[in-house]
Amino acid sequence: MYIAEMLGITKTFGDLVANDRVDFQLRKGEIHALLGENGAGKTTLMRILYGLYHQDTGTIKIEEKPVDIRSPKDAIANGIGMVTQHFALVPPLSVAENVVLGYTDSFVLNRAAIEEKVGDAAKRFGIHIDPKSLVRHLAVGQRQRVEILKALYRNARILILDEPTAVLVPQEVDALFETLNRLKTEGLSVIFISHKLYEVTQITDRVTVLRDGKLIGTVNTADVNQSALAAMMVGRETFGVTRQTETLGENKVTLQINSICVNNDQGLKALTNISLDVNAGEILGIAGVGGNGQKELAEALCGVRTCSSGSIHLMGEELLGRTPAQFTQAGMGRIPEDRHEGMVADLTVTENLALEHLNEYTKNGVLNHKAIRSQAEKLIDQFQIKAQPNDSVRTLSGGNMQKVLLARVLSRNPKALIVPQPTRGLDVGATEYVRQQLLEQRNRGAAVLLISEDLDEILALSDRIAVIYEGEIVGIMAADEATPERLGLLMSGAVKEH
Ligand SMILES: Nc1ncnc2c1ncn2[C@@H]1O[C@H](COP(=O)(O)OP(=O)(O)OP(=O)(O)O)[C@@H](O)[C@H]1O
Ligand SMILES: [Mg+2]
Repeated sequence: MYIAEMLGITKTFGDLVANDRVDFQLRKGEIHALLGENGAGKTTLMRILYGLYHQDTGTIKIEEKPVDIRSPKDAIANGIGMVTQHFALVPPLSVAENVVLGYTDSFVLNRAAIEEKVGDAAKRFGIHIDPKSLVRHLAVGQRQRVEILKALYRNARILILDEPTAVLVPQEVDALFETLNRLKTEGLSVIFISHKLYEVTQITDRVTVLRDGKLIGTVNTADVNQSALAAMMVGRETFGVTRQTETLGENKVTLQINSICVNNDQGLKALTNISLDVNAGEILGIAGVGGNGQKELAEALCGVRTCSSGSIHLMGEELLGRTPAQFTQAGMGRIPEDRHEGMVADLTVTENLALEHLNEYTKNGVLNHKAIRSQAEKLIDQFQIKAQPNDSVRTLSGGNMQKVLLARVLSRNPKALIVPQPTRGLDVGATEYVRQQLLEQRNRGAAVLLISEDLDEILALSDRIAVIYEGEIVGIMAADEATPERLGLLMSGAVKEH
């Protein structure tokens, strides 16, 4: 018996067929992966199940009964819960208040009673969270737990998780998987979306693959490996880039960071005396577990966050104290970690591609729309962005938004590039493409600072690798001297070489 069935689901947006007669069947007590390239239609299918969109045609059955799901309220009434990447929590409220918000049987909010009820629920589901904590004090992984608890508290028997691990550090991923496995033994069904194939093989029981909105098939996870899944998704098995090992000669320092100190949002010290030189034609990788100052480093190097001391020189020019726009003008390219930052969702792809660079298209105060448009068409083609120039960015799939950002920054041929988590949320093909782009930027002579929590990514691309721990550089080495073990020890704070 299936707890949920989606049969013959079609959903179009204008001319675009996002889901094309898709069948999806979910068993009770299974973890079921939904896999596919960026734009394949995964989120759309799940938004239909959760009542955020309505299918053009097709049927949804819950426990074999046809249901009409018109809103999240209908979905919740049918035992369906969904956790997206952008949490819908109220930061100043407590965990308990957030969990019961919009779902209490009584009008009077008795704080102690609520905390006890939510605390009991947390225990019952094995979710480690203090009901009294304020959400604004919680890390991303903990906020996600609140969202999961919120769904379970509303009696969800089907839990949809759309790229839950994209925002988590490795320890948080382990904790999430533990929770999911426990929930599964209690009969809960989980729909798990991820681009990380090893996660899919690790945690799921079955996998459904979509390509271009169409169902490719559903398989038992035990019967496939990562290459087979990649082949189902994109039609080929092997992915990866080859790093060029020869250096570009002259070892010219492009970006010189000297002893900068930076505070975090809470006003506490996030970076202490960071000094790094990034040469022309070099990728310097910054390895580290998330939350050790990476975010602050990336922001400081683009003028988005102020440094309390130190200096930042780009081609000998001091940038400290300048505005983000002046950093950009001086030749600093930045790909924000959060793709929603740095883009305007309501503007079109064309407009977003020109953003921050309008001066290049302006002559005597007049904007050259034709030039903007033809540049956009060129970039859409070159970066294989699945979108039309006039689509508003809001309607793009996550991965395609990331490509728009990359296209805008990389097409400017910046002298230095700051790239935090460049492939987060990208499918295997797009990941390979972005990595290739970063290598090409290196090969044309850009100084690239790659900040990534993905050790494989660091090892695949970097010429040199530095490790950041608690806001300090604790080690720096040439790529051929780096091993996962050595990096792991530095990343955990067990040793210091610097
Ligand atoms: N509200 C909308 N309006 C117009 N087009 C949309 C809308 N929502 C999604 N689309 C389009 O539907 C297609 C499928 O998008 P969807 O978000 O489902 O992809 P996805 O598989 O979740 O991709 P990703 O892995 O990048 O998140 C994309 O081409 C997207 O641009
Ligand atoms: Mg999606």
